[in-house]
Amino acid sequence: MSPPLLQVNDLKKHFPVSKGLFGRKSEWVYAVDGVSFEIARGETLSLVGESGCGKSTVGRAILRLFDITSGQVILDGQRIDDAHPSTMRQMRRRVQVVFQDPFSSLNPRMRVRDILAEPIRNFGLAKSAEDLEVRVTALMDTVRLPREALNRRPHEFSGGQRQRIGIARALAAEPELIVCDEAVSALDVSVKAQIVNLLQDLQQKFGLALLFISHDLAIVEHMTHRVAVMYLGKIVEVAPRREIFAAPRHPYTKALLSAVPLPEPGAQRNPIILGGDVPSPINPPSGCRFHTRCPYVFDRCRTEEPQLRAAEGDQWVACHLDALPAG
Ligand SMILES: Nc1ncnc2c1ncn2[C@@H]1O[C@H](COP(=O)(O)OP(=O)(O)OP(=O)(O)O)[C@@H](O)[C@H]1O
Ligand SMILES: [Mg+2]
Repeated sequence: MSPPLLQVNDLKKHFPVSKGLFGRKSEWVYAVDGVSFEIARGETLSLVGESGCGKSTVGRAILRLFDITSGQVILDGQRIDDAHPSTMRQMRRRVQVVFQDPFSSLNPRMRVRDILAEPIRNFGLAKSAEDLEVRVTALMDTVRLPREALNRRPHEFSGGQRQRIGIARALAAEPELIVCDEAVSALDVSVKAQIVNLLQDLQQKFGLALLFISHDLAIVEHMTHRVAVMYLGKIVEVAPRREIFAAPRHPYTKALLSAVPLPEPGAQRNPIILGGDVPSPINPPSGCRFHTRCPYVFDRCRTEEPQLRAAEGDQWVACHLDALPAG
């Protein structure tokens, strides 16, 4: 059996932050603190959770935008967290990213043609100048932008069109996995749906895997295969879409999903309001990190950290409750 496209094993990323007036004493932000998951070829895994829970840090670790603190990131059976620069070059091609704000990630002085040609040149994908041109125009067709637009610069486009350029640039490298970090979050509702549909079409066409980082659960419910829910640097539940939305098991997942509007007009889940604030990732609670806000908390939760365990089928939950109530 071939390995999963991406495997993340016990990933940790702790950031040092300085404390005190002269920044001499440093402490740590436990941004991601032991996260494991897999993504299959052609699969969409969504990473959800409140602001600051570590979603982008996971994405950035996979893209190797920094060195991780510990753990492993394995692409197609090969470790990339500590890969040598020469192997890293090929690995970088295979994992691309689309950020929330294409404006800040697209060079305003470059024409679209050059923005798209850059990764093709960098990774040596074109056989000739003609091939380069063919590839660049094909990318415009793929993301449904007019070919004439190749000579324009990013500021001449709307937000949705710019995001299409961002997607085309990611595709130019012929990746197998795209990390979409809040890729549609800043767009208007109708444009959002178009870009999500485009991503789904591209996934089908190219067999792409997506790590879809989002706090927009209605969008996630519409397009994902599986969902991983994060709380304070940990995954508390991971499950296929249908199971998690129909029968969330972790008390945090239940609260998070209870706020998502149901597709039927006027219908609403019973919202669960959690008490207290999200604790700081600088000093996370002992035991289960969610225990300070959990309506079902008992003694064990304060001292012992729950591990992810199979609840039913492919639904995994990190909670000490024996009979995890579904739904
Ligand atoms: N470079 C950094 N230095 C110090 N702390 C950082 C750094 N990057 C992230 N953090 C901290 O790590 C934690 C996780 O941040 P991260 O950006 O991964 O969260 P997120 O889930 O993506 O949030 P959002 O939904 O707001 O995008 C936060 O407390 C954040 O302040
Ligand atoms: Mg983020």
